[in-house]
Amino acid sequence: MRVLLTGGTGYVGQAVQKALVLHGHDVSVLARHKRNLIPEVLFEPGDIRSVDLNPLMARTDTVINLVGIIEEHPATGQTFDTMHYKVTKRLVESMVQNGVKRLIHMSALGTRPGAQSRYHRTKWKAEECIHDMNVESIILRPSLLFGGGSSFFIMIKNQCRLPVVPIPGDGSTLFQPVARSDVAELIARLVTTEQSWGQTWEIGGPKRFSLNALYRHVAASMGRQHLPLFHVPLALMFTAARFGENLPGFPVTIDQLTMLNEPNVTDDTRWHEIIAEPTPLANDF
Ligand SMILES: NC(=O)c1ccc[n+]([C@@H]2O[C@H](COP(=O)([O-])OP(=O)(O)OC[C@H]3O[C@@H](n4cnc5c(N)ncnc54)[C@H](OP(=O)(O)O)[C@@H]3O)[C@@H](O)[C@H]2O)c1
Repeated sequence: MRVLLTGGTGYVGQAVQKALVLHGHDVSVLARHKRNLIPEVLFEPGDIRSVDLNPLMARTDTVINLVGIIEEHPATGQTFDTMHYKVTKRLVESMVQNGVKRLIHMSALGTRPGAQSRYHRTKWKAEECIHDMNVESIILRPSLLFGGGSSFFIMIKNQCRLPVVPIPGDGSTLFQPVARSDVAELIARLVTTEQSWGQTWEIGGPKRFSLNALYRHVAASMGRQHLPLFHVPLALMFTAARFGENLPGFPVTIDQLTMLNEPNVTDDTRWHEIIAEPTPLANDF
Protein backbone atom coordinates (compact mmCIF):
# COMPACT_ATOMS: atom_id res chain seq x y z
CA MET A 1 0.00 0.00 0.00
CA ARG A 2 1.07 3.61 -0.56
CA VAL A 3 1.08 5.18 2.86
CA LEU A 4 1.42 8.85 3.79
CA LEU A 5 2.80 9.09 7.32
CA THR A 6 2.61 12.31 9.33
CA GLY A 7 4.45 12.66 12.64
CA GLY A 8 6.90 10.07 11.34
CA THR A 9 9.95 11.75 12.87
CA GLY A 10 8.60 11.50 16.42
CA TYR A 11 8.94 8.87 19.10
CA VAL A 12 6.09 6.69 17.81
CA GLY A 13 6.66 7.64 14.19
CA GLN A 14 10.20 6.27 14.07
CA ALA A 15 8.95 2.82 15.09
CA VAL A 16 5.99 3.08 12.72
CA GLN A 17 8.29 3.91 9.76
CA LYS A 18 10.28 0.74 10.40
CA ALA A 19 7.21 -1.46 10.86
CA LEU A 20 5.59 -0.14 7.68
CA VAL A 21 8.74 -0.76 5.64
CA LEU A 22 9.11 -4.26 7.10
CA HIS A 23 5.54 -4.97 5.98
CA GLY A 24 6.46 -3.93 2.46
CA HIS A 25 4.53 -0.67 2.30
CA ASP A 26 5.57 2.22 0.11
CA VAL A 27 6.03 5.00 2.69
CA SER A 28 6.14 8.77 2.25
CA VAL A 29 6.76 10.83 5.37
CA LEU A 30 5.54 14.41 5.52
CA ALA A 31 7.91 16.13 7.91
CA ARG A 32 9.61 19.43 8.66
CA HIS A 33 13.06 17.83 8.57
CA LYS A 34 14.85 14.62 7.57
CA ARG A 35 16.23 13.72 10.99
CA ASN A 36 15.04 10.31 12.18
CA LEU A 37 13.93 9.17 8.73
CA ILE A 38 15.10 5.76 7.60
CA PRO A 39 16.56 5.51 4.10
CA GLU A 40 13.70 3.35 2.82
CA VAL A 41 11.07 6.10 3.16
CA LEU A 42 10.46 9.07 0.90
CA PHE A 43 10.89 12.45 2.58
CA GLU A 44 8.14 14.91 1.73
CA PRO A 45 9.21 18.25 3.20
CA GLY A 46 6.61 20.52 4.76
CA ASP A 47 4.89 21.88 7.80
CA ILE A 48 1.56 20.10 8.11
CA ARG A 49 -0.12 23.37 9.09
CA SER A 50 0.55 25.01 5.75
CA VAL A 51 1.93 22.62 3.12
CA ASP A 52 -0.23 21.87 0.08
CA LEU A 53 -1.42 18.35 0.86
CA ASN A 54 -3.13 17.70 -2.47
CA PRO A 55 -0.07 16.56 -4.47
CA LEU A 56 0.76 14.10 -1.66
CA MET A 57 -2.75 12.65 -1.60
CA ALA A 58 -2.59 11.92 -5.30
CA ARG A 59 -0.01 9.21 -4.48
CA THR A 60 -1.65 7.82 -1.30
CA ASP A 61 -3.95 4.92 -0.43
CA THR A 62 -3.90 5.30 3.34
CA VAL A 63 -2.93 8.17 5.64
CA ILE A 64 -1.45 7.54 9.09
CA ASN A 65 -1.62 10.63 11.28
CA LEU A 66 0.63 10.63 14.33
CA VAL A 67 1.05 14.38 14.73
CA GLY A 68 0.42 15.51 18.29
CA ILE A 69 1.96 17.63 21.02
CA ILE A 70 2.07 17.23 24.79
CA GLU A 71 2.88 20.85 25.52
CA GLU A 72 1.78 24.01 23.74
CA HIS A 73 4.14 26.62 22.29
CA PRO A 74 1.83 29.48 21.35
CA ALA A 75 4.75 31.64 20.18
CA THR A 76 5.34 29.23 17.28
CA GLY A 77 1.65 28.45 16.76
CA GLN A 78 2.00 24.91 18.14
CA THR A 79 -1.22 24.88 20.16
CA PHE A 80 -3.35 21.85 21.00
CA ASP A 81 -6.21 23.20 18.91
CA THR A 82 -3.99 23.64 15.87
CA MET A 83 -1.86 20.51 16.15
CA HIS A 84 -4.65 18.11 17.16
CA TYR A 85 -7.79 19.52 15.59
CA LYS A 86 -6.96 21.94 12.75
CA VAL A 87 -4.20 19.75 11.33
CA THR A 88 -6.49 16.69 11.34
CA LYS A 89 -9.22 18.72 9.67
CA ARG A 90 -6.79 19.82 6.93
CA LEU A 91 -5.72 16.22 6.39
CA VAL A 92 -9.21 14.74 6.13
CA GLU A 93 -10.45 17.58 3.92
CA SER A 94 -7.60 16.94 1.54
CA MET A 95 -8.25 13.20 1.67
CA VAL A 96 -11.91 13.71 0.74
CA GLN A 97 -10.98 16.15 -2.01
CA ASN A 98 -8.55 13.62 -3.51
CA GLY A 99 -10.55 10.43 -2.98
CA VAL A 100 -8.21 8.94 -0.35
CA LYS A 101 -10.49 6.72 1.69
CA ARG A 102 -8.56 5.43 4.69
CA LEU A 103 -7.06 7.07 7.76
CA ILE A 104 -5.37 5.53 10.79
CA HIS A 105 -5.38 8.26 13.39
CA MET A 106 -3.52 8.43 16.68
CA SER A 107 -5.58 9.78 19.50
CA ALA A 108 -4.97 9.05 23.19
CA LEU A 109 -6.59 7.19 26.05
CA GLY A 110 -8.76 9.57 28.05
CA THR A 111 -10.06 11.35 24.96
CA ARG A 112 -13.75 12.05 25.50
CA PRO A 113 -16.27 14.86 25.27
CA GLY A 114 -15.91 17.34 28.12
CA ALA A 115 -12.46 16.05 29.18
CA GLN A 116 -10.67 18.14 31.78
CA SER A 117 -7.42 18.63 29.87
CA ARG A 118 -7.17 20.66 26.70
CA TYR A 119 -4.95 17.90 25.28
CA HIS A 120 -7.86 15.44 25.48
CA ARG A 121 -10.54 17.94 24.50
CA THR A 122 -8.73 18.82 21.28
CA LYS A 123 -8.04 15.14 20.55
CA TRP A 124 -11.82 14.64 20.90
CA LYS A 125 -12.53 17.52 18.52
CA ALA A 126 -10.21 15.84 16.00
CA GLU A 127 -12.01 12.50 16.39
CA GLU A 128 -15.39 14.20 15.87
CA CYS A 129 -14.09 15.92 12.77
CA ILE A 130 -12.95 12.56 11.33
CA HIS A 131 -16.39 11.05 11.99
CA ASP A 132 -18.09 14.00 10.29
CA MET A 133 -16.12 13.52 7.07
CA ASN A 134 -16.46 10.85 4.45
CA VAL A 135 -13.36 8.78 5.27
CA GLU A 136 -12.97 5.29 6.71
CA SER A 137 -10.95 5.54 9.87
CA ILE A 138 -9.42 3.50 12.63
CA ILE A 139 -8.76 5.67 15.66
CA LEU A 140 -6.29 4.38 18.23
CA ARG A 141 -6.26 5.66 21.79
CA PRO A 142 -3.22 4.28 23.59
CA SER A 143 -2.25 4.70 27.22
CA LEU A 144 1.35 5.72 27.99
CA LEU A 145 3.84 4.24 25.55
CA PHE A 146 7.16 2.74 26.57
CA GLY A 147 10.24 1.30 24.90
CA GLY A 148 13.18 2.76 23.04
CA GLY A 149 13.39 6.04 24.94
CA SER A 150 9.94 7.36 25.89
CA SER A 151 10.36 10.91 27.20
CA PHE A 152 7.92 10.22 30.03
CA PHE A 153 9.93 7.24 31.23
CA ILE A 154 13.21 9.11 30.78
CA MET A 155 11.79 11.79 33.10
CA ILE A 156 10.82 9.13 35.66
CA LYS A 157 14.31 7.61 35.38
CA ASN A 158 15.95 10.98 36.01
CA GLN A 159 13.72 11.61 39.01
CA CYS A 160 14.53 8.15 40.40
CA ARG A 161 18.12 9.36 40.88
CA LEU A 162 16.97 11.95 43.45
CA PRO A 163 17.32 11.10 47.14
CA VAL A 164 13.56 11.61 47.58
CA VAL A 165 11.19 11.64 44.62
CA PRO A 166 8.34 14.15 44.53
CA ILE A 167 5.08 12.64 43.21
CA PRO A 168 2.05 14.74 42.35
CA GLY A 169 -0.85 13.77 44.62
CA ASP A 170 -1.05 10.40 46.34
CA GLY A 171 0.39 8.53 43.34
CA SER A 172 -2.61 6.19 43.08
CA THR A 173 -3.57 7.13 39.51
CA LEU A 174 -3.58 4.01 37.34
CA PHE A 175 -1.82 3.68 33.99
CA GLN A 176 -1.63 0.79 31.56
CA PRO A 177 1.64 1.25 29.68
CA VAL A 178 1.80 -0.22 26.21
CA ALA A 179 4.88 -1.03 24.14
CA ARG A 180 5.67 1.33 21.30
CA SER A 181 6.79 -1.67 19.25
CA ASP A 182 3.35 -3.31 19.67
CA VAL A 183 1.55 -0.16 18.57
CA ALA A 184 3.85 0.25 15.56
CA GLU A 185 3.28 -3.36 14.53
CA LEU A 186 -0.46 -2.94 15.03
CA ILE A 187 -0.55 0.13 12.80
CA ALA A 188 1.49 -1.57 10.07
CA ARG A 189 -0.88 -4.55 10.07
CA LEU A 190 -4.02 -2.39 10.14
CA VAL A 191 -3.00 -0.79 6.86
CA THR A 192 -4.05 -3.93 4.99
CA THR A 193 -6.96 -5.04 7.16
CA GLU A 194 -10.43 -5.17 5.68
CA GLN A 195 -12.07 -5.23 9.13
CA SER A 196 -11.98 -2.66 11.91
CA TRP A 197 -12.61 0.41 9.77
CA GLY A 198 -15.01 2.80 11.45
CA GLN A 199 -13.83 1.70 14.91
CA THR A 200 -12.06 3.44 17.77
CA TRP A 201 -9.84 1.20 19.86
CA GLU A 202 -8.49 1.92 23.29
CA ILE A 203 -5.08 0.37 23.75
CA GLY A 204 -3.61 -0.61 27.09
CA GLY A 205 -0.75 -2.92 27.98
CA PRO A 206 -1.02 -6.21 29.88
CA LYS A 207 -0.65 -4.72 33.37
CA ARG A 208 -1.92 -1.70 35.28
CA PHE A 209 0.46 0.33 37.43
CA SER A 210 -0.27 3.12 39.88
CA LEU A 211 2.02 6.13 39.45
CA ASN A 212 3.81 5.04 42.65
CA ALA A 213 4.27 1.52 41.23
CA LEU A 214 5.59 2.90 37.94
CA TYR A 215 8.26 4.89 39.76
CA ARG A 216 9.13 1.86 41.90
CA HIS A 217 9.34 -0.38 38.83
CA VAL A 218 11.72 2.02 37.08
CA ALA A 219 13.79 2.52 40.24
CA ALA A 220 14.10 -1.25 40.74
CA SER A 221 15.37 -1.60 37.16
CA MET A 222 18.11 0.87 38.13
CA GLY A 223 19.05 -1.23 41.15
CA ARG A 224 17.23 0.99 43.63
CA GLN A 225 14.93 -1.28 45.61
CA HIS A 226 13.82 1.28 48.17
CA LEU A 227 12.61 4.54 46.65
CA PRO A 228 11.52 7.21 49.12
CA LEU A 229 8.51 9.02 47.66
CA PHE A 230 7.27 12.42 48.75
CA HIS A 231 3.63 12.98 47.84
CA VAL A 232 3.12 16.64 47.04
CA PRO A 233 -0.48 17.79 47.57
CA LEU A 234 -2.13 18.36 44.21
CA ALA A 235 -3.47 21.77 45.20
CA LEU A 236 0.11 22.90 45.80
CA MET A 237 1.30 21.44 42.48
CA PHE A 238 -1.51 23.16 40.58
CA THR A 239 -0.76 26.49 42.24
CA ALA A 240 2.93 26.17 41.39
CA ALA A 241 2.10 25.19 37.79
CA ARG A 242 -0.31 28.10 37.44
CA PHE A 243 2.53 30.51 38.20
CA GLY A 244 5.42 28.55 36.73
CA GLU A 245 4.26 26.62 33.68
CA ASN A 246 5.39 29.28 31.24
CA LEU A 247 8.84 29.61 32.77
CA PRO A 248 11.67 27.83 30.93
CA GLY A 249 12.54 24.49 32.56
CA PHE A 250 9.38 24.28 34.71
CA PRO A 251 8.79 20.52 34.89
CA VAL A 252 5.04 20.19 34.39
CA THR A 253 2.08 22.06 32.91
CA ILE A 254 -1.42 22.35 34.36
CA ASP A 255 -2.69 20.17 31.52
CA GLN A 256 -0.12 17.45 32.26
CA LEU A 257 -0.94 17.57 35.99
CA THR A 258 -4.61 17.19 35.15
CA MET A 259 -3.86 14.08 33.09
CA LEU A 260 -1.54 12.63 35.74
CA ASN A 261 -4.50 12.75 38.08
CA GLU A 262 -6.92 10.83 35.83
CA PRO A 263 -7.01 7.02 35.54
CA ASN A 264 -5.58 6.00 32.17
CA VAL A 265 -6.72 2.39 31.83
CA THR A 266 -9.04 0.41 29.59
CA ASP A 267 -10.81 -2.95 29.36
CA ASP A 268 -10.80 -2.79 25.56
CA THR A 269 -8.90 -5.78 24.18
CA ARG A 270 -9.98 -5.70 20.53
CA TRP A 271 -6.41 -4.95 19.45
CA HIS A 272 -5.33 -8.37 20.82
CA GLU A 273 -6.96 -9.87 17.71
CA ILE A 274 -3.95 -8.43 15.89
CA ILE A 275 -1.28 -8.33 18.61
CA ALA A 276 -2.12 -11.47 20.54
CA GLU A 277 0.49 -11.12 23.27
CA PRO A 278 1.17 -7.51 24.20
CA THR A 279 4.65 -6.85 25.54
CA PRO A 280 4.87 -6.39 29.32
CA LEU A 281 6.75 -3.46 30.83
CA ALA A 282 10.25 -4.68 31.68
CA ASN A 283 13.50 -2.70 31.61
CA ASP A 284 13.38 -1.14 28.16
CA PHE A 285 11.75 2.22 28.70
N1 LIG B 1 4.08 8.94 23.52
C1 LIG B 1 3.01 8.52 24.19
O1 LIG B 1 3.11 7.96 25.31
C2 LIG B 1 1.63 8.71 23.60
C3 LIG B 1 0.53 8.18 24.30
C4 LIG B 1 -0.74 8.35 23.75
C5 LIG B 1 -0.90 8.99 22.54
N2 LIG B 1 0.18 9.50 21.90
C6 LIG B 1 -0.02 10.20 20.62
O2 LIG B 1 0.79 9.58 19.64
C7 LIG B 1 1.19 10.54 18.67
C8 LIG B 1 2.71 10.51 18.52
O3 LIG B 1 3.27 10.83 19.79
P1 LIG B 1 4.83 10.90 20.00
O4 LIG B 1 5.08 10.50 21.40
O5 LIG B 1 5.53 10.20 18.90
O6 LIG B 1 5.09 12.47 19.89
P2 LIG B 1 6.41 13.22 19.35
O7 LIG B 1 7.61 12.39 19.56
O8 LIG B 1 6.37 14.58 19.98
O9 LIG B 1 6.16 13.35 17.80
C9 LIG B 1 5.29 14.30 17.28
C10 LIG B 1 5.42 14.32 15.78
O10 LIG B 1 4.57 15.37 15.25
C11 LIG B 1 5.37 16.13 14.33
N3 LIG B 1 4.95 17.53 14.21
C12 LIG B 1 4.72 18.41 15.20
N4 LIG B 1 4.43 19.61 14.68
C13 LIG B 1 4.49 19.47 13.32
C14 LIG B 1 4.30 20.35 12.24
N5 LIG B 1 3.96 21.63 12.45
N6 LIG B 1 4.44 19.88 10.97
C15 LIG B 1 4.78 18.59 10.75
N7 LIG B 1 4.97 17.68 11.75
C16 LIG B 1 4.83 18.14 13.02
C17 LIG B 1 6.76 16.10 14.95
O11 LIG B 1 7.68 16.52 13.97
P3 LIG B 1 9.04 17.33 14.33
O12 LIG B 1 10.10 16.24 14.41
O13 LIG B 1 9.22 18.24 13.20
O14 LIG B 1 8.81 18.04 15.63
C18 LIG B 1 6.85 14.63 15.30
O15 LIG B 1 7.12 13.86 14.16
C19 LIG B 1 0.64 11.89 19.14
O16 LIG B 1 -0.56 12.14 18.48
C20 LIG B 1 0.39 11.66 20.62
O17 LIG B 1 -0.62 12.50 21.12
C21 LIG B 1 1.46 9.37 22.40
